[in-house]
Amino acid sequence: MAVRIDDQNLIFYLETEHTSYIMQVVKGKYLCHLYWGKKLTKIYPERLLSFHGLCCSANPDETDKTYTLDLLPQEYPTQGAADYRRAALETEYADGSILTELFYESYRVIKGKPLLKELPATYAEEGDDVWTLEITCADRRTGLEVKLSYSVFSQMDVLTRSVCIINRSSARVVLNKAYSASVDFNSDSFDMLTLNGAWGRERYPERVKLRRGNQTIGSVRGASSHQENPFIALLREDTTEKTGDAYGFSFVYSGNFIAGVEVDQSAASRAYMGIHEDLFQWNLEPGSCFQTPETVMVYTDRGLGELSRIYHRIYRRRLCRGKYRDAGRPVLVNNWEGTYFDFNQKKILAIADKAAELGIEMLVLDDGWFGKRDDDTSSLGDWYADQRKLPDGITGLAKAVHLRGLKFGLWFEPEMISKDSNLYRQHPDWCIHVPGREPMECRNQMVLDLSRGEVCSYVIDAVSQILDSAGIDYVKWDMNRHITEYYSAGRGSSGQSELCHRYMLGLYHVMDEIISGHPDVLFESCSSGGGRFDPGMLYYMPQIWTSDDTDAAERVYIQYGTSYAYPFCTMGAHVSTVPNHQVHRVTPWKTRGDVAMTGAFGYELDLTGLTAMETNVVKKQVQRYKRLRMWLPAADLYRLENPFCGNYGAWMFVSESGNQCLVNCIRMMERANMPEKRIFLQGLKEGCSYRCVETGNCYSAEELMYAGLRVSEDGENPDMRGDFVSFTWSFEKMMKRKIRRTNE
Ligand code: GLA
Repeated sequence: MAVRIDDQNLIFYLETEHTSYIMQVVKGKYLCHLYWGKKLTKIYPERLLSFHGLCCSANPDETDKTYTLDLLPQEYPTQGAADYRRAALETEYADGSILTELFYESYRVIKGKPLLKELPATYAEEGDDVWTLEITCADRRTGLEVKLSYSVFSQMDVLTRSVCIINRSSARVVLNKAYSASVDFNSDSFDMLTLNGAWGRERYPERVKLRRGNQTIGSVRGASSHQENPFIALLREDTTEKTGDAYGFSFVYSGNFIAGVEVDQSAASRAYMGIHEDLFQWNLEPGSCFQTPETVMVYTDRGLGELSRIYHRIYRRRLCRGKYRDAGRPVLVNNWEGTYFDFNQKKILAIADKAAELGIEMLVLDDGWFGKRDDDTSSLGDWYADQRKLPDGITGLAKAVHLRGLKFGLWFEPEMISKDSNLYRQHPDWCIHVPGREPMECRNQMVLDLSRGEVCSYVIDAVSQILDSAGIDYVKWDMNRHITEYYSAGRGSSGQSELCHRYMLGLYHVMDEIISGHPDVLFESCSSGGGRFDPGMLYYMPQIWTSDDTDAAERVYIQYGTSYAYPFCTMGAHVSTVPNHQVHRVTPWKTRGDVAMTGAFGYELDLTGLTAMETNVVKKQVQRYKRLRMWLPAADLYRLENPFCGNYGAWMFVSESGNQCLVNCIRMMERANMPEKRIFLQGLKEGCSYRCVETGNCYSAEELMYAGLRVSEDGENPDMRGDFVSFTWSFEKMMKRKIRRTNE
C-alpha cells in the first residue's frame, strides 16, 4: 500500500514506486517532515530529523534547550509561534490575536482520492493504486482544525497535497493566508527553475541558484498570468535533463498564486505554494471550512526530463477529463489571423470550402460574430449573432459548415463585458469595479463579477443557449484582461477581500456547468494566448492556446519552456502566414508545420489565398498530422537541444509502445561553414534497431543515443540552407536487428 504508518512512533510513509515522503509527529505534537526523495526502505527517524541547533528563538520544551520551532521542519507551519520562517497559515481571531498552534490529533487513510469541493484537482479512477492520507491537526484553544490531505499516485510517482481548514469555534476566524503546501529540505544546495514571460513570450525557463532569504514568483492579476506560471522546480546544481534530483511543485489553480523558497539561518530551505496572500483574506464562519487548491508534487532522481514526463502523464491521464482526454484532436482552421474582425458568412464559408479540400476537419469562428463587434470596443456580453455579418445566424452558419463535412467551433469571452454592450446598459454593476469610480478598461473591456450567483447564471445560460441551438463542436474560451479595482457590488464591506478567490470559484462553477452539460464539445482555453496556461484550466479544458505569438521560431522557445510542466498535446499550435503578424519573421512552411504538429494542430490564416504549391504542402501536412495523432499525444517527450542555450532546439517523442518515434530539430540561424551538428536521441530501447521512415536508413538504438544523429542526414529536407530550418525524422522500431556488420 502506498501509505504505511508506524503507529507506535507516529511515522507516516507515503511511498510511490520510486520515491518516499516521510513525516513524523515530534514531541507528541508537531507534525514534521523527515524526508522526501528516492525511495528508502528502512529509516532511522532520529537520524533523519534535523531540528536541533542553538539559536536565540523561543523554546517550547524547557528540558531541551536546543529544541526550537525555528529550525523544526514542520509540515504546515503557522504564524505567531517561534517559527519565524514563511508560514503556511496566518489567522486572526475575534479577540485580535493571531497565534495558531497546530498539534497533531489523528489520521485516516482513504482508498482513492476524494474530490476537492468546488475546485479542480487530479483524480483517481477505479483500479488505480491511489491512496489518500488525511492528517488532522488542531488548535483546540481557538477551535481551528486543519486537515492535511496527501494523495499518493504510486505508479505515477506523484504526490498531491491540499488543506481543509475548519472553524470549530463559535466566532469568526479570519484567514490571512492559507497555502496548499510547505515542504522543508535540510539543504540549500538547489537551483530554482521557474517559467516566466510576458504576452507573446510565455513560459521562458529561468534557473537560478538559491540564495539566503525568500525568493518567490506569483501573480496578483486574477489569473495565473503570462508573467509567471504556477510551477517551480528545485534542482541540484548538477541536475541535467537526463540525470539528478528534481523536485517539482505545480499548482492546480488559475488565479492569484505564490510559489517560492526560503533559505534560512541553518541553510535549510522551505518551499511553499498556495493562493497569494496579497489580495486574500477569508472570513471563516463558525462551522465552515476553507478548502485550498491542490499542489502536485513530483520527485525524481532522473533529471528534469523525467520530471516533465511524470507531470505530462498525470496531467494527460488524471487531470484532463472528458471525451477528448484520450482522443485525437481535429485539425482546425481558425479565422482570427486570416480575417480578424473583417468577415462575413460568405468569406467564412469560402474558408470552409478550402479547408474541406485540404482535409482540415474543423472551422473555428473567432472573435467578432456577436453583438455589433467590428473591433474590440464593443459587445462583449451580448452573445447573439450579428445578423449583418451572419444573416443565417450561428445556427445557419454551423449547419452550412457541417454540410461541408467539417466540425464547427466558436470563440467566446464569457468572463468579460464591454461598456458598449446591452449587458452593460442593463447591469452596469455586474463588472468588477469600485462604486463611485470610473472602471478602468483594458482592451476596452471589464471583468464580469463571477463571485455573484446571478452573473454566473447569466453566463451559463448565454453560452449554453448558443451551444444548444447551433450544434457547436468546439469552444475557444478566451479571457483577455486581468482584474483591477477589486470590489464586488454584490457583497458587503467585510467580504471584499474574498473576491479574488470567489471569482475563481465562480468561474470553475460556470465552466463545470457548461462543460458537463455539453460533454461532446471540445473546449480550448485561452487568455490573450497563454495567459492562463495552468493545471486548473486543464481540468476543464484539455487544450490551451499556448501563445498569441504564432511565429514558428518563437514557438520553439515557448513550447519548449511550456513542456517543463505541460504535455505537448495540451498546447494549441497553429500554422500562420508569413511575414508573421507578431514578429514579422518569415519562416519556411515546413518549419511552421513541424513546430505546430507536435501540439493540438491547426491553421490560422486565410486559406483561400493559398497558391497551388501551398495547397499541396498543407494537404501533406494535414495527412502527416493525422498519422501522427494516432500515437503522438500519448507519447513520452524527450528534450534534446535547449534553444535557450544554443542555435538548435530539438525534442523527440517516443510512443507508449516504444515502436515509434518522432524527432524534431530546428536550427535557428544559418552560418557559413557550420560545424557538423549531432543530436543524441533518448528513450530508445537498447539492443533494438530503428528504421528512419524518410530515408530508409537503419540505426541501432545505441548509435542514435550515444554516437548521435547527424542533423544533415535529414531525408525530407533537401534544401537545408537558411534560417529557422526544421529537420524531422520518424523512426520505427524494427522487429529484428537488421544492421549488417561489416565483417559478416
Ligand atoms: C485573444 C486571443 C486570440 C484571439 C483574440 C480575439 O487575443 O488570444 O487568439 O482570439 O483574442 O480577440
